[in-house]
Amino acid sequence: MGQTIGVIGLGVMGSNIALNMARNEEKVAVYNYTRDLTDQLVQKAENEQIYPYYDIQSFVQSLETPRKIFLMVTAGEVVDSVIGSVVPFLEKGDIIMDGGNSHYEDTSRRYDDLKSKGIDYLGIGISGGEIGALKGPSIMPGGDMEVYEKVAPILTKIAAKVENDPCCVYIGPKGAGHFTKMVHNGIEYADMQLIAEAYTFLRERLNLPIKEIANIFETWNQGELKSYLIEITVHILRKIDVETGLPLIDVILDKVGQKGTGKWTSIQAINNGIPLSIITESLFARYLSTLKNERINAERILTGPEVDRQDLEKDLWIEYMRQALYLGKVCVYAQGFAQYKTTSELYDWDLPLKDIALIFRGGCIIRAEFLNVISEAYQNQPKLVNLLVAPYFAEKFETYQLGLRKVVSQGINVGMPLPCLSASLTYYDSYRTGTSNANLLQAQRDYFGAHTYERNDRVGIFHTEWQ
Ligand code: 6PG
Repeated sequence: MGQTIGVIGLGVMGSNIALNMARNEEKVAVYNYTRDLTDQLVQKAENEQIYPYYDIQSFVQSLETPRKIFLMVTAGEVVDSVIGSVVPFLEKGDIIMDGGNSHYEDTSRRYDDLKSKGIDYLGIGISGGEIGALKGPSIMPGGDMEVYEKVAPILTKIAAKVENDPCCVYIGPKGAGHFTKMVHNGIEYADMQLIAEAYTFLRERLNLPIKEIANIFETWNQGELKSYLIEITVHILRKIDVETGLPLIDVILDKVGQKGTGKWTSIQAINNGIPLSIITESLFARYLSTLKNERINAERILTGPEVDRQDLEKDLWIEYMRQALYLGKVCVYAQGFAQYKTTSELYDWDLPLKDIALIFRGGCIIRAEFLNVISEAYQNQPKLVNLLVAPYFAEKFETYQLGLRKVVSQGINVGMPLPCLSASLTYYDSYRTGTSNANLLQAQRDYFGAHTYERNDRVGIFHTEWQ
């Protein structure tokens, strides 16, 4: 009997996935392009069912058939080159799975290529960082349903569990799993930015000390805002830098990196006419952050508003901020899930929105209490067009919108940038505007370019000689 699964790519994520599989009674063959990472894993996994191989051929031949090979390598060309090195040793019906952050279009292309060779391919979105990979990530598999079923026993075993339900569900054909992971990351960017804006407001407008802000986030994390990202923010705010004795956050340079998944999310939305303003603002906030030198220079030249920064009533404004953050999150998820819906229709993927919300409840970076409510919203109305109009959230807006409006206008008045909170409010107000000023834009287009327009009182295409 051979090994039951093979993992290629033994960086932090790959070794942790391999260990997770071994701890769930799989016999795991492992291979890495360089020997050092394989040896490190073997040392660490002395008593686990981890079997190292140092050349691709013996790695592949060690696997029982149909062979199941899990790639945990850097997204991009490396995936193609690893596939190219494995395929010569495979037989019809063997399965390759890509667990990295691959672009979903690459996944669809690889699926087609391998299909023509009789090899099955699954693009598997995995979220949860290194701890998730080891202890249970959220897993988003895309490809053929019958192929998924062959590996489902392994994937569901290694996935995070919420109330005993595995955070792993079949997502849809071809690149649907990686698409789902991509938008997950877009939501992650915006969720992180919203939390950062709440932190800035509490610190700079309410003048609260970091310790108190950590306590506020901790309290919020016991209610409807409960989420992994708020939880880690509490830990981050309490961390002291050993060298300086200062809060570590105060010595971290304010320039944000990114690896591309948030950018892909915005590009896909723009290409397909999907309003994704909040996620895109969070991406632009990262880009703006990198202009550190320009910002320092501009701070010396450009002035803010002349305002009387009166003290705000602390408890009242903390509650406004909580409400604003909650509604901001709702708007981000509304945009992300609208992107799922529109794209699902575009590609005929039939994405299971209710289940996507359920598997996001555990393991992944955006795991949050209110995903239960999102899932219920889709369960109650499978054809729901947008989360904003789900009765539960419409009611939340009715009660909390004052908080969001107060915070955003306060930011505007004192010159404090709150890009994602403002974009959330703009999205909410635009979405609920039945009759907008788009008629003027159409008239302008027709005026200068004879682009024509439709009328609201009769059917047809019209043009006016404006002059
Ligand atoms: C996850 C994370 C993971 C990774 C992101 C970070 O779900 O486990 O999203 O995929 O941390 O790639 O992305 P940036 O480097 O672009 O912030």
